[in-house]
Amino acid sequence: MNFLEGEILQGQRALVTGGSSGIGAAVCRALGKAGARVVVNYLSSKEEGEQVVADIEAAGGQAMAIQADVSKEDDVKRMFAQMIEAWGSIDILVANAGMQWDGPFHEMSLKQWNKVLDVNLTGQFLCAREAVIEFNRRGIDSDLSCAAGKIICMSSVHDIIPWAGHVNYATSKGGVLMFMQSLAQEVAHNKIRVNAISPGAIKTPINRAAWETPEAEAELLKLIPYERVGNPEDIGRAAVWLASDASDYMTGTTSYIDGGMTLYPGFREGG
Ligand SMILES: NC(=O)c1ccc[n+]([C@@H]2O[C@H](COP(=O)([O-])OP(=O)(O)OC[C@H]3O[C@@H](n4cnc5c(N)ncnc54)[C@H](OP(=O)(O)O)[C@@H]3O)[C@@H](O)[C@H]2O)c1
Repeated sequence: MNFLEGEILQGQRALVTGGSSGIGAAVCRALGKAGARVVVNYLSSKEEGEQVVADIEAAGGQAMAIQADVSKEDDVKRMFAQMIEAWGSIDILVANAGMQWDGPFHEMSLKQWNKVLDVNLTGQFLCAREAVIEFNRRGIDSDLSCAAGKIICMSSVHDIIPWAGHVNYATSKGGVLMFMQSLAQEVAHNKIRVNAISPGAIKTPINRAAWETPEAEAELLKLIPYERVGNPEDIGRAAVWLASDASDYMTGTTSYIDGGMTLYPGFREGG
């Protein structure tokens, strides 16, 4: 059996924020294929969220879409309450929702700064807090998993690669790195695992300009030793692994899934 499909997450309940597009949608489909029931969270793309639900159901899985703004405490609490009322609990959180609002630093408004921090960093705090409260309440259900719960934070290679013109975004992802590690340290004794995925360049709407034309893609490929831009499915597979007991001894780690983008590609010729 392909371990990523079928039974590895059978019976587990997952919530994926920003599940209506790009990486989040691929994570939802991959978790669904691996046997999990999936909440597909979206902000405004209702139709796209429901399409992801329909895809999971067409593949034999179970899913539901829930609207919520991850940066709003009341929305997050309502979303978790809806999920727990419907399915009894949560086993896996993928805190994936994120956005960019780029610009030169000297022109960056406070609104632009706060918005990106609110969604990319505070959104992860609000969702992870609700998940930890529920994992602690329920404890381990050994029929489902040897952990009480799993949290996967969607970060970025820009949690360690500085990014001019994107200071708010890179700062939010740098924050996610320390958030993930500190939380992992705090909750490990409760058998809650917290890890991050840091994607490199993945073809999604968030970075369309970077891969849409052959010229842009050629420029991008100079930064990727593996010589291809990533697909959302590359991240979906990793999320299944991190959510499953196959990775049971991993906590507080970041998986850089980036075709080698973090390997200082300039040093292939330079140095
Ligand atoms: N693509 C890449 O190359 C790349 C690389 C590194 C890291 N990442 C990270 O991967 C994650 C997903 O990015 P993506 O490329 O898949 O982007 P995307 O296609 O633009 O999708 C973003 C998702 O986040 C949701 N979202 C945005 N603001 C939200 C909010 N306030 N509350 C709830 N949901 C919200 C969107 O919902 P609506 O559609 O309803 O607005 C959408 O589902 C982000 O955290 C991003 O930083 C992406």
